[in-house]
Amino acid sequence: MPKHLFLALFILLLNACNPPANRQDRIDLKVDSLLALMTLEEKIGQLSLYTSDWDVTGPTMREGYKEEIRKGRVGAIFNAFTARYTRELQRLAVEETRLKIPLLFGYDVVHGHRTIFPIPLGQAASWDLKAIEEADRIAAEEAAAEGLHWTFAPMVDIARDPRWGRMAEGSGEDPYLGSRIAEARVRGFQGQGLGQLNSVMACVKHFAAYGAAQAGRDYHSVDMSERMFREVYLPPYAAAVHAGAATVMTSFNDYDGVPATASKYLLTEVLRNELKFEGFVVSDYTSVMELIPHGVASDTASAAALALQAGLDMDMQAGFYQSALPQLVASGKISKELIDQSVRRILRKKFELGLFDDPYRYSDTIRERTTIMKPEYLDKAREVARKSIVLLKNESVLPLSKNLGTLAVIGPLADARREMIGSWSAAGDWTKSVTLLEGVRAAVSPATKVLYAKGSNVNDDSTSYFQQALRIARQSDAIILAVGESASLSGEAASRSSLDLPGVQQQLVDLIQQTGKPVVVVLMSGRPLTINAMAQRVPAILETWFLGTQAGHAIADVLFGDYNPSGKLPVTFPRSVGQVPIYYSMKNTGRPLDVNSKYTSKYLDVDNSPLYPFGYGLSYTTFAYSDPVLSTASLRAGDTLAVRVNLTNTGSREGVEVVQLYVRDLVGSVTRPVMELKGFQRVSLKPGERKEVTFFLTYKDLEFCRIDGSFGTEPGQYLVFVGGDSRDVRQAAFDLL
Ligand code: BGC
Repeated sequence: MPKHLFLALFILLLNACNPPANRQDRIDLKVDSLLALMTLEEKIGQLSLYTSDWDVTGPTMREGYKEEIRKGRVGAIFNAFTARYTRELQRLAVEETRLKIPLLFGYDVVHGHRTIFPIPLGQAASWDLKAIEEADRIAAEEAAAEGLHWTFAPMVDIARDPRWGRMAEGSGEDPYLGSRIAEARVRGFQGQGLGQLNSVMACVKHFAAYGAAQAGRDYHSVDMSERMFREVYLPPYAAAVHAGAATVMTSFNDYDGVPATASKYLLTEVLRNELKFEGFVVSDYTSVMELIPHGVASDTASAAALALQAGLDMDMQAGFYQSALPQLVASGKISKELIDQSVRRILRKKFELGLFDDPYRYSDTIRERTTIMKPEYLDKAREVARKSIVLLKNESVLPLSKNLGTLAVIGPLADARREMIGSWSAAGDWTKSVTLLEGVRAAVSPATKVLYAKGSNVNDDSTSYFQQALRIARQSDAIILAVGESASLSGEAASRSSLDLPGVQQQLVDLIQQTGKPVVVVLMSGRPLTINAMAQRVPAILETWFLGTQAGHAIADVLFGDYNPSGKLPVTFPRSVGQVPIYYSMKNTGRPLDVNSKYTSKYLDVDNSPLYPFGYGLSYTTFAYSDPVLSTASLRAGDTLAVRVNLTNTGSREGVEVVQLYVRDLVGSVTRPVMELKGFQRVSLKPGERKEVTFFLTYKDLEFCRIDGSFGTEPGQYLVFVGGDSRDVRQAAFDLL
């Protein structure tokens, strides 16, 4: 009997006589017995992921890849969904290969699968963890029903440079908010756990620090202090891993001179040893191949060896593992144990998903038909979308009456169906999205006449649509003006050097505003834009990101007051691109701003302050805060500090306020940010109603990377701030003993 067969039988026998008590141990035993049967080629197959192509019918597989599957040389396929298609591929793996190991199917389900939710930056503006979790739960339900096992989300990269187009895919600039959202999203995707038919594996990306690309140029180098990395960029990945994320994706960038895909420091020391990550790591697309242009590998073999040795388990699309690992093992440069370790991690997930019991269990045509875009999913998409809208300015224009005589809806994004679902909208069908114009028409009274003009294109110099826009503006009682970016101006490989409105849109805004009619700007964008001129002249502005399938209805809900806006910016809006990176938790410097003193830290041509600060967003009602009251003036180890404020709705409408808690450590062994978010709560209040809001702070919340690199606290004075954004706060002080 061949040795491996004997080993497998032995393990199985052992298993049968003495079955392990817990599920994980049972899975490990099965993995070991399967591993003992596998050839090196089959093992390397498990470490290889290939992509499907596309044609009009949806995803398709080229013959060459099908042949590879039949030979057991493929472990996973991406861009693979629909029950029919995934069944067809799975059949090749489980009926035509020697060992019948099922394939994993992955896809970028970034903000919804068929029912599209707001882009992640927009969802972050809701500060509503429950709503975000529910959105990803629905995405998982839809994706899993189409045969998917795995989403390449959440992206949890902190981003402080809006030139970087991928800011749209993350949760903004702050590690605390980013971490809470990262956890919520992992919970949303993975639900009750792997193996449930409505759960998909999450893939936290992009590890690590991808959001700090120099000059905001995508894929560019990242270089930062270890302190900055650990305090700001690492926490959301850590939070996602601790929430149980099944997989992690590397990033394209180099970090401190080493491309992430070849970084033993990131993939093994930090991810495995420190964060205790136990799932598997996949490369970002062809990032194993990209080790060559990065200049750390000279050929396929050295790239594959570097990546595997660093801790990269699965090679996406480069095919380098497949072509180089056999020879690397034969020559003794790579040990079989190293290969086995990665194969084990991947097989474990296949067992956890239940694929060895039934490889077709997720690819269910009936479930697919009955799960996709259910009415309740659309309702939830509308709810999340309206919660994501941020009211930036309102000089008594909003909400609009539904009974206006004539209403003009103008702008290149007013009737732009394709744009509504954003730049990474998975299998979303843009033809099913609701435009702003449709949302407005559905909301107003039958007597209101709604006029529409495009006004301009998003991004060219033509002014030929101006006159028509002006004509209808003059005939109307109010104007809704939809301007901003097209969806493809943000997302991957969509960096910009300017944050201004593209094309001639600012001219269009000026022209319309000069009519003297009430104008509401509905801004759409995947990033903060520099909108000073507009902010000065236009009476009302709503930031609506790209809100997904139900965009038009959600915006109309806010425009006409059916929903009182509650969104708050998850990222700072600069006045000028020259201020970037600009974020609320900056350091004070040794020469903090003094406008009367030249030699202080400032610009000569623009104020230091942002146009709209982090955490900012208005409501149709107003809220008043009391000063915070602390449960103690001195916090000891093991104690908890309660911070209490009274919040009153001083306006005439019911509304939700996102109450934010920040702290400042006044003196440390290293310089500390002027403010750090440490808590937030969404509080709903009726007109005139008052509620006490309480936050609890512990030692743990005040830890930072001290001068010796260790995490912990230092005694000293702290300030606590509470308010409705990072600028407008009330404060109290305490000592940390
Ligand atoms: C992106 C990833 C994505 C992958 C697969 C890459 O180009 O950076 O975020 O998951 O493609 O689509």
